[in-house]
Amino acid sequence: MKEGIIVYRSKYGGTKKYVDMLREAKDFDAVEVSKADVRITAQYNTVILCGGIYASGIAGISFIRKNYEKLKDKRLAVFCVGASPYDEKAFNDIKRRNLKNDLKEIQCFYGRGVWDQEKMKFADRTLCRLLQKSISKKDASELEPWEKALMSASGKKCDWTDEKYLKPLLDFLG
Ligand SMILES: Cc1cc2nc3c(=O)[nH]c(=O)nc-3n(C[C@H](O)[C@H](O)[C@H](O)COP(=O)(O)O)c2cc1C
Repeated sequence: MKEGIIVYRSKYGGTKKYVDMLREAKDFDAVEVSKADVRITAQYNTVILCGGIYASGIAGISFIRKNYEKLKDKRLAVFCVGASPYDEKAFNDIKRRNLKNDLKEIQCFYGRGVWDQEKMKFADRTLCRLLQKSISKKDASELEPWEKALMSASGKKCDWTDEKYLKPLLDFLG
């Protein structure tokens, strides 16, 4: 039995940076969600799903949802990557939306990712512009942490990735 495999989905590279850091810390294999067949996980004790957060959804989480019967007896963890600084309330909200029913018990961790509006695919850039427009009409005191991050990152290129975000996951993995 091999130790662990990371199944990941990263559009803009933030999640991929954490995958690389994790692989340096642990001797894990990694595969993109789009190329992952659940049968390969049979060889591993630990499966970690890493995915960026887009409009409050964790990319790739369907891999766990669809294959939960085959994965449930393994050590499972989710590491999600967003633009927002860590905020307990916002993180609990992400967990509630993405890890429902049987998936509620899965350990979930958070890291801050990257932001480069110029590099975004057209649909994402358009969506972000629309979001920024609607957020700009709200009262600043009502904004969610990720909404504030979205406004302050507007037009900038940001990389907030930091290995400190992996510490809780590494502690969990032991
Ligand atoms: C269309 C879009 C929606 C996003 N929605 C959120 C969000 O709801 N919460 C958040 O914290 N970050 C959000 N982000 C920021 C991404 O999570 C961040 O860029 C992260 O690095 C994405 O992972 P990746 O770099 O691996 O693709 C969004 C980014 C895009 C492009």
